Amino acid sequence: MGRPMLRIVFLGPPGAGKGTQAAELARDFRIAHLSTGDMLRSAVSERTPLGQEADAYMRAGKLVPDDLVLRILQARLGAPDARDGFILDGYPRNLAQAKELERLTPIDRVVWFDLPEDVLVERLSQRRVCPLCHTVYNLATHPPKVEGHCDKDGAELIQRSDDQPAAITTRLRVYAQLTEPLLAYYRQKGNFRSVDATGTPAEVAKRIRAALA
Ligand code: AP5
Ligand code: MG
Repeated sequence: MGRPMLRIVFLGPPGAGKGTQAAELARDFRIAHLSTGDMLRSAVSERTPLGQEADAYMRAGKLVPDDLVLRILQARLGAPDARDGFILDGYPRNLAQAKELERLTPIDRVVWFDLPEDVLVERLSQRRVCPLCHTVYNLATHPPKVEGHCDKDGAELIQRSDDQPAAITTRLRVYAQLTEPLLAYYRQKGNFRSVDATGTPAEVAKRIRAALA
């Protein structure tokens, strides 16, 4: 008999640790980590037409238009590695996307990362990422073994263009205006779980596993 499907949505503000937690959990559960942010960043660096269109929105910290994101997500949802399930990291981000997602697939759990704004800004400004494998580091809490280089593939780490102060401010505003209202939408559903996302990554991971049980 096959494994039961596990289709999870991670919802939360920029810098909450969604990507960090999703990468580890998806590996453990052998399901796909579907980060719309990572997909879009790859499209930008490969200079595909979609990436060229998305670039300016992302740099500014604004949402990329729904139809572009949907196009990139739909292809990944149907890929073989998502057959047994997935963690959706960064989608949906507004009500229209939440409704679109319902048309695309059932969802088993929606996990909301709950933490205060001052922690977010600190985490984002110290973040560095690998442009190749998307591994996330933090200069303060999770530095690479060799300064400036990815532990996994040695690539030179970069700072995301939207981790500059002006874009961080915009992202937090966009989150409050468009994404946070989704809480009311999902809270009334039986599969919603809120998780305290403060503390170390290991502590947060433990709470998420309990919420998924
Ligand atoms: P996206 O890439 O999804 O960015 P985001 O939602 O702003 O979230 P982040 O990736 O910044 O944070 P995270 O929660 O993943 O935190 P992380 O684990 O890295 O989207 C980027 C852009 O793409 C959007 O602005 C938009 O333009 C576009 N986009 C994407 N999806 C879209 C959609 N659906 N519709 C429209 N547009 C879309 O952690 C952050 C830092 O903290 C790291 O340095 C990490 O090491 C550290 N850290 C993590 N956990 C802990 C911990 N417990 N303690 C201490 N440090 C920690
Ligand atoms: Mg992320």
